[in-house]
Amino acid sequence: MKPVSEECSAPADRVLAIDLPRFLTQEHHPIHLVGVAGSGMSGLAALLIELEHTVSGSDKASSMETDRLQRLGLRFYEQHRPEHACPADLVVFSSAIKSDNPVLVTGRDSGKPVVRRAEALAAIMRAKRGIVVAGMHGKTTTSAMTAHVLREGGLHPSHYVGAEIPILGTNAHWDPRGEHFVAEGDESDGTLRCFHPEHALILNIEEEHLDFYSDLAAIEEVFARLIEQTSGTVFYNIDDANTARLCATRKNTISFGFSDAADYRGAEVDLHSFSSDFCVYFREQKLGEAVLNVPGPHNVHNALGVIALAVELGIPFKKIAASLRKFEHARRRFEIKYESERFLLVDDYAHHPTEIRATLKTARAIGRKRVLAMFQPHRYSRTQALCTWFGSAFDDADRLVVTDVYPASEPPIPGISGQMIVDEVLKRGHRGATYQPRFERIHCDIGNALDVGDLVLSLGAGNIHEQLSILAADLVIAEKLRAIVGESGDVRLYEPLSKHTTLRVGGPAQFWVEPQSENAFAALIRFCRDESLPLFVMGRGSNLLVRDGGIRGVVVHPYGGDFDKIEINGSEITAGAGVKLREVAYAARTANLGGLEWMEGIPGAVGGGLRMNAGAMGAQTFENVARVRYLDTEGNPHVKNRDELEVFYRRFPLLENNFAISATFHAQPAERAKIDERLRESQEKRRTTQPVAKSAGCIFKNPDSIPAGKLVDELGLKNLRVGNARVSEVHGNFIVNDGGATATEMLELIDRIKQTAKAKRGIELETEVQIVGEPRS
Ligand code: EPU
Repeated sequence: MKPVSEECSAPADRVLAIDLPRFLTQEHHPIHLVGVAGSGMSGLAALLIELEHTVSGSDKASSMETDRLQRLGLRFYEQHRPEHACPADLVVFSSAIKSDNPVLVTGRDSGKPVVRRAEALAAIMRAKRGIVVAGMHGKTTTSAMTAHVLREGGLHPSHYVGAEIPILGTNAHWDPRGEHFVAEGDESDGTLRCFHPEHALILNIEEEHLDFYSDLAAIEEVFARLIEQTSGTVFYNIDDANTARLCATRKNTISFGFSDAADYRGAEVDLHSFSSDFCVYFREQKLGEAVLNVPGPHNVHNALGVIALAVELGIPFKKIAASLRKFEHARRRFEIKYESERFLLVDDYAHHPTEIRATLKTARAIGRKRVLAMFQPHRYSRTQALCTWFGSAFDDADRLVVTDVYPASEPPIPGISGQMIVDEVLKRGHRGATYQPRFERIHCDIGNALDVGDLVLSLGAGNIHEQLSILAADLVIAEKLRAIVGESGDVRLYEPLSKHTTLRVGGPAQFWVEPQSENAFAALIRFCRDESLPLFVMGRGSNLLVRDGGIRGVVVHPYGGDFDKIEINGSEITAGAGVKLREVAYAARTANLGGLEWMEGIPGAVGGGLRMNAGAMGAQTFENVARVRYLDTEGNPHVKNRDELEVFYRRFPLLENNFAISATFHAQPAERAKIDERLRESQEKRRTTQPVAKSAGCIFKNPDSIPAGKLVDELGLKNLRVGNARVSEVHGNFIVNDGGATATEMLELIDRIKQTAKAKRGIELETEVQIVGEPRS
């Protein structure tokens, strides 16, 4: 633990030459704030602006808060440059600022007064009747609730809380009309001891911030000091053992909680999904009933503290209850990001095991089918210190994805990562926990696991909420897509395309949609056009290399329903776009129709066969096509006969912009034995010349001069490998996935082959396989 002198009680060399409370609240000065973009510092900046100082601030990045403050008069610098602080009479710095920060160093060297954020805040508070809300968990909600109730009670309080509070308007406000100042006291860096409030409201005390404190005793020492420095009443949570013990010997305390011994007692608590009803007693006397529109028993506890304080300040209970009913959550405190009968997405700031457990319990109590959680650990030091504890915090989550540590201002600690937490959770026997080191993918992992009835929770004090917001925005679109395809269709978010390509590589499809009818497909086309969403059609994925970043927009997979129908009429076979070419060959066989046996050797479906004019055994698709039915870019259906269609080797331009629905193939009556012989021939050709492995068929088009497979073979490139992508030893035009290969590896191998062919034989190889999607982000 750092020596006390560094935080608040100034040692000899830090005796301030100014009377800080007077300087800040009764005079007007130029003041510079180092690290002004953080939530705590921006609140202080707002107060100083309202107190009519000339405020400047620096930070390495701007934020929504700095933008807002600039409109109020902040002079903001997006860099830490010493000269910015020159005009200032006082420099205030955030605890996230390192001691070698150039503005800080220059400020100190020039002999200017330099103070921490909490010192400045404590000094401002001294001009009013201070109320400090302190504790490990719930202090932002509780300080916001206090300021709100006092405001509604007509006391015109000033306030300072650590997050954006919609109901209060801003996170900090100076109201010259009122006497009280409500502040959230931050225990994380020991600066709680700066405060000398009139009243303190203490919520809970336990092990936390072990980067700063050596143990619980060190934490309690800081709280004891706050209690000692409180001139009026200490309101404390009697149900929290550490808090109760610390306050037990003090005179002038008022307790609150559920315990029978509490002065202000909550009882008959009725918890609902997003609210709670409860009765409040002052000792034996019933004060009345209250409704709190924020969920969870922990918030009832917080409200009891606020009620105790407000009653003691003289606000009638009825008024308090009316304001509590109106209270809305602070941002990121069980904040609902998406709500429908089918799904509920909630974001919460919880980052300590106790908070996580409470939030998950609240989520579970809402009664949806499953709770899926995404968690971003906050700070390496906390992850290290509380790792085992984290292991037991997620029991109420059916599925958990943990990403890497949000460092705040800390440098990494070797070996400390989100994986450690997952290991601890798994050790406890939890079966649904995984680690996702790539932050930008966490919403995909959860989104792809999403099922009707799920509640998704993002947890953490860093930026994990951004991932939930992405999921919420995509879910809005996914639900519209679902309405289009109806119950029989399917919509999945972030479906891994490695599951749907024969090469088994590729990132996720943002929206994977399986319509079952031509009408639904047409409606999808129109929806994508209206919403400017890219639309890609994917059949069996047998001739496709999807990049590792996946495909943005809607990936339509025409499969099942209308798309799987085969009809035979005389010597014509009509097959939906989702029918495998192999199935067409065998359906023809059943009807004693020949000429389509070559299709046996093609792994793709009709749609892809048309799109690529696929071929084998010297034949190609359009030699057998009589008609094609397709939808245009407006979703309108058309039928075109073969003679109206322009077709090339492995290319059919019409389907580059339009969408195949079905094709009619012509065949010839043939003897079953003859058909079987040709089918066997095709099978034999495949068996003897092509690998049995994960591949996309032939990778390159055959150049005029030589078949690509032969060329690769002659160049001695068989078995050439990049990672797990390898040129087949069986056929030089096949690249095989030996297991877990990435698209990046595949593409590099393709590139090497192309370069060699060009350098050694002057041949420009062109890929036959369709390469699509985004590079890995
Ligand atoms: N060859 C070699 N070494 C090799 C591979 C091939 O010398 O490693 C020689 C063969 O001996 C043969 C010639 O190259 O003399 C052509 O090979 P193959 O008969 O295997 O035909 P291909 O042109 O490589 C085409 C299609 C295949 C289809 C087969 C069988 C293309 C690009 N490929 O292959 O289609 O299965 O015929 O009919 O037209 C596909 O499109 O994905 C595909 C696999």
